[in-house]
Amino acid sequence: MKQTKWWKDSVVYQIYPRSFQDSNGDGIGDIPGIISRLDYLKELGIDVIWLSPVYRSPQDDNGYDISDYRDIDPMFGTLSDMEELIREGNKRGIRIVMDLVANHSSDEHAWFVEARKGNPKYRDYYIWREGTPDQVPNALRASFGGSAWEWDEQAGAWYLHLFSKKQPDLNWENPAMRHDLYDMINWWLDKGLGGFRLDVVELIGKVPDRMITANGPRLHEYVKEMSKEAFQKHDIVTVGETWNAGPEEAKLYSAPDGSELSMIFQFEHICQSHTQFGKWKQNPKDFRAIKHIMTKWQNELRGCGWNSLFWDNHDLPRAVSAFGDEGKYRVESAKTLALYMHGLQGTPYVYQGEELGMTNTHFNSPDEVMDIESRNMYHELGELGWSSEERMAAINMTGRDHARTPVQWDDTENAGFTQGTPWIPVNPNYREINAKAQVRDPGSVFSFYKALIALRRDPGWRDVLRDGTYTPLLDDDEHLFGYARALNGKTLLFAGNFSGEEIRLPQKRLPGERRELLLSVYGEIRTEGEDIVFRPYESWAAVCL
Ligand code: GLC
Ligand code: CA
Repeated sequence: MKQTKWWKDSVVYQIYPRSFQDSNGDGIGDIPGIISRLDYLKELGIDVIWLSPVYRSPQDDNGYDISDYRDIDPMFGTLSDMEELIREGNKRGIRIVMDLVANHSSDEHAWFVEARKGNPKYRDYYIWREGTPDQVPNALRASFGGSAWEWDEQAGAWYLHLFSKKQPDLNWENPAMRHDLYDMINWWLDKGLGGFRLDVVELIGKVPDRMITANGPRLHEYVKEMSKEAFQKHDIVTVGETWNAGPEEAKLYSAPDGSELSMIFQFEHICQSHTQFGKWKQNPKDFRAIKHIMTKWQNELRGCGWNSLFWDNHDLPRAVSAFGDEGKYRVESAKTLALYMHGLQGTPYVYQGEELGMTNTHFNSPDEVMDIESRNMYHELGELGWSSEERMAAINMTGRDHARTPVQWDDTENAGFTQGTPWIPVNPNYREINAKAQVRDPGSVFSFYKALIALRRDPGWRDVLRDGTYTPLLDDDEHLFGYARALNGKTLLFAGNFSGEEIRLPQKRLPGERRELLLSVYGEIRTEGEDIVFRPYESWAAVCL
């Protein structure tokens, strides 16, 4: 099938179902809740929804541990609810993308249950090493802490788990396993799904005995096979989660011939401030470095790949808290982060609540922490000698629960998320920050996102945003950013200030004799004599005339 690549003009909205909207008062978001909010998403203007996993799951890692790929967890609804979501989305021109967790399953998946028993067909669906319980196969570590190997009494062998021990890794070297997955993928796509986001896809080519996890030797062979056997049979979007991909890998994954995926999520800009302790200890953000990273990706993938554009997802702290100012300039900084990202070439992703400028929350003690990763890290970093205060500070800076507090719909109890008790507390700032207050306010973060998304749709600018050249203008400035996007004689200029200080810039540093404002945080481009004045977190997009 000829790929239409509609996703190059799309804006994707990510939903973390358990925190989006509860419909039945059990305190957990669900699919009927999502359906009830489709008109809100239509109003925002997005084209695609990516749903974090709603498959049947023991919820050890909030659904990223799947026990049945062909069913919906009762917590989220039923298969017919899911089919209704696809239909109701399509009615509004919104495609539904599901999360595909194919690097590992749950230990409660029937395949693993059989594998453990020694069923010869399924045993090899997972990665086992013979030995004795006192001799771990090697030093490979799991992302959630501890060894990546677990001794299994029943099997009398070690199995690999790169995440929790309830998430055994699937053995991609086994063709029968791969083809079972492809059948499942096609089964979903035949229901009219808009595509998949591929969880940690970079790990499927792992060679544990050589300590290779990401970017293994057969990785792209597997992705190509999956693409051919499933994705290419449908007109869909696919995006891979790849923490360790550089532009060279990205060019393979997102090759324009469609032989692998549509695009990947690269994380270099997110990891810019990380140290040897990863995200748990960070340097201050360096916007000059972040701009250089983004410029590199813009240039490298131009014409030979495709970028995804994001600050936020369900694994990251809230963008406005991490990269902006969650206090005095919350609204301004949320808008400026959005404007910077949405003007670049690629497909933008908005994470639920980002369009409201939702912020991080605060955890007082380890008992308030829900996320398996943060809980395990609290333990591990303790063993390395970190004090409890240091560990709580790290979790408050970057724990995954920040993204998972309920969406703030209105100022009623529990922010309109649930009639019951929410599975994780609502951020107390919901009385000021909520959708009800923002949808009709032209100065709100919501209205700004709506305008940015509309700009991508505007027949006058759509081609420039999709295909236009990218020229960085202020890449060496510490706080200011600027870039031009141009196509067929039309030029759009994006500029702004990533700091809370006022900064002056000689006008001649930016192109355009005259500039016609399209979108702005402060309602105008302020000039004084020869200078443009950028107020705190000010940014704008303008047409160069
Ligand atoms: C991905 C998901 C994350 C999950 C992990 C294991 O990184 O985004 O939420 O915990 O994979 O599936
Ligand atoms: Ca519910």
